[in-house]
Amino acid sequence: MNESALAPKVVRTRAGMAAERELARADGVSVGFVPTMGFLHEGHLSLAREASRRCDRVVMSIFVNPIQFGSASDLDSYPRDEGRDLELAALAGVDTVYAPSVEDVYPEGFATRVAVSGITEVLCGDPNSRGQAHFEGVTTIVAKLFNLIDPDLSFFGAKDAQQAAVVRRMVRDLDFRTEVVVMPTVREADGLAMSSRNARLEPADRERALALYRALCEIRDVATDGDLGAGLAGGRNLLEGEGIEIEYLEARDFDSFETVEDLGERPVLVAVAAEIGGVRLIDNIVLEGDGEAIKDQTGGQVAAGEAR
Ligand code: PAJ
Repeated sequence: MNESALAPKVVRTRAGMAAERELARADGVSVGFVPTMGFLHEGHLSLAREASRRCDRVVMSIFVNPIQFGSASDLDSYPRDEGRDLELAALAGVDTVYAPSVEDVYPEGFATRVAVSGITEVLCGDPNSRGQAHFEGVTTIVAKLFNLIDPDLSFFGAKDAQQAAVVRRMVRDLDFRTEVVVMPTVREADGLAMSSRNARLEPADRERALALYRALCEIRDVATDGDLGAGLAGGRNLLEGEGIEIEYLEARDFDSFETVEDLGERPVLVAVAAEIGGVRLIDNIVLEGDGEAIKDQTGGQVAAGEAR
């Protein structure tokens, strides 16, 4: 274990981060990057550990990015605990935490947006969901972070499958030199996908939220028997039976994000979003043509306990 186990170096400014990057360049080491909005849990930490396994130096950003939030109340209620985050990051092998202020990232006069079209128009990008502006906020901050940190490898979670696909598209289209690595969704022991927002769920809503993954598993099982449509209908019933208002529950081609009626040869993303007790949650699984969930997705379970 290296000295990062004690505490990561915390950098607060773009200039400071650029200087850190120069040092890594001078040392000739590889840099892995884990972008986060903090309130770390086992999902984030799995990315950091993989980065630490594959790269000489690990940079994590902790920045609650205001331009990707639709509502001020969601932004204001986003949970934060930097002290704990720094400890957990250190234990997961993070060397440097870049935790800037909003003013440092978006100084007076900031006027640029980076936008990916096409796959940002559906699911979370649909006007009835978070909308495309959400992904514009994500790609704008991620592009800035890629420029500043210039990582060899960048680590993203499959829990935000559409976000990972959008970032991959941006990297290809804009010739960023980083390689995007997508890691499996980490779940609580009972199946709930880990999320910083889970901390805001009341106990009864935390219980109801289990229906999201249960619905995805039901869809997988019915689709395996050959009827994706019936699977989706069953999943929808299950959620509505729990009184959950579905934002979307859809099956889409994992690459093109076009809707699919049946499982074919290509992987299918089954994705769900719902607001439960005022907390917006998302989850997904990926089904192979034969209806089996990709190992990545359901094999990615990690029991709760190490982090919140
Ligand atoms: P955040 O929600 O903090 O997530 C940071 C990273 O952790 C993302 O790549 C996300 O997919 C991954 N992650 C979250 N929960 C996970 C889980 N249960 N299992 C595996 N990975 C998980 O996503 C963002 O922040 C922001 O949009 C960001 C990319 C930092 C840009 O602001």
